[in-house]
Amino acid sequence: MSNGPATTIIKPTDLRGILKYVPRFQGQIFVIALDGSIVADENFSNLLIDIAVLRSLGIKLVLVHGISQQIEELSATRKITITDSRGTGVTDAATLDLAIRASARVSHLILEGLTQNGLKCAITNAVRSVPTGIIKGVDQQFTGRVDRIDKEFILHLIAADIVPILSPIGFAPDGHSLRINSDLLAAEFAEVLQASKIIYLAPLGGLVINGELRREISVETLRDLLKDHPETIAEEGHSKAVHAVKAIETGTSRVHLLDGRVFDGLLNEIFSNEGVGTLIYGNDYQQIRKATRRDVRHIYNLTRHAVKREELIYRTQQAIEKNIDQFFVFEIDENLIASVSLTTYPEKPELAEIGSLYVLPFYQNRGIGRKMVNYACMVAKERGATTALALSTQSFTFFISSCGFAEADKSVLPESRLKGYEESGRNSKILVKPLA
Ligand SMILES: CC(C)(COP(=O)(O)OP(=O)(O)OC[C@H]1O[C@@H](n2cnc3c(N)ncnc32)[C@H](O)[C@@H]1OP(=O)(O)O)[C@@H](O)C(=O)NCCC(=O)NCCS
Repeated sequence: MSNGPATTIIKPTDLRGILKYVPRFQGQIFVIALDGSIVADENFSNLLIDIAVLRSLGIKLVLVHGISQQIEELSATRKITITDSRGTGVTDAATLDLAIRASARVSHLILEGLTQNGLKCAITNAVRSVPTGIIKGVDQQFTGRVDRIDKEFILHLIAADIVPILSPIGFAPDGHSLRINSDLLAAEFAEVLQASKIIYLAPLGGLVINGELRREISVETLRDLLKDHPETIAEEGHSKAVHAVKAIETGTSRVHLLDGRVFDGLLNEIFSNEGVGTLIYGNDYQQIRKATRRDVRHIYNLTRHAVKREELIYRTQQAIEKNIDQFFVFEIDENLIASVSLTTYPEKPELAEIGSLYVLPFYQNRGIGRKMVNYACMVAKERGATTALALSTQSFTFFISSCGFAEADKSVLPESRLKGYEESGRNSKILVKPLA
């Protein structure tokens, strides 16, 4: 991978693409978590320029860093045996001493780099920690967990245009130091600050599951895998996966895991539809869930109105029940207010059809329809589809203008679907969207 200086020429079209994200991200908090090895990498200076770009766009940043690599290096050069380098096992006194030295060094490197990029920053003592204690009979000694974060202090710094730098060393109530794992620390900060993103920058391309690099995964799928098949998740990404789930469950919308050694990786991940790492998503879509049998009658009633107006094709309750696995619903205070279905075709697995899209009139024009379509597209992609399909008689402009679909002809339809299409006589417009 080339890590040369930033010589890319930005085209006006790129700029237009980037600018659309600016109002969306302005004022939001991103927690950027840097592994110690990324701070040591030659791409680090480029990363700092990217971080300065994010700041200049009005994104509020908090930097959390790790120190494992530096602890291991110090252990080797000073010939001191350590008990653990990651802050997840036992930290004895000698290891803690190296951790404090490593932390001072890494924090300083970040201070130096941000200074070179004209950013004000501060190392803080905002993390109150308590010892992890005894786990399975083993005293974890100087390993700590987060007890409390001084939120006001951090928000105060952010408001004053100062980037807080958080090291993985917390302070016990008596002021003594405790080693904290930095993946955990980033998730704790994201929760307290209600950050919209955590970006884990590590020396890995993303989350590898069953030997395959995943570009995106929903929090539900990842949570289930961690619970039932943790062995399918590659070891290097495991800790970040655990903390990504924790962060999303406590309110962070998205967690990105990407290779901090890749030139331009950070900006590409944030400002393009084609991320370079793994996106773990939740929250935005947390009001959307898979439908169950208990929803059949509600979905039937919900869509009846649209059927009358010929906006949707008629489905009996039995037909909905038979295919209930294909439905997703949007719920507010336990009321179903929108539905969408996703159908795949064995003879054309690259295609996934979005159907039964309906939003209750009272809730229309609030972005819910678009959210349902985006969610269905994400699930479709997760299931291996490369193109989303939608058939519409009256809402095709919604699919085209609001959801990025384009008209196609009937040759894209799978055989079985084409038959139904021709028999229905509805003459719906056929719309497709590549799932980049
Ligand atoms: C089409 C539908 C799902 C859109 O849902 P929604 O939650 O209102 O849409 P969003 O709020 O996400 O998007 C709003 C945008 O879509 C446009 N839009 C909404 N309904 C539209 C329609 N029927 N045709 C064209 N554009 C439409 C709005 O003008 C708005 O555009 P803007 O962002 O440029 O202002 C909803 O109107 C609906 O349920 N309609 C009846 C059923 C139906 O036609 N379903 C589609 C079957 S394929």
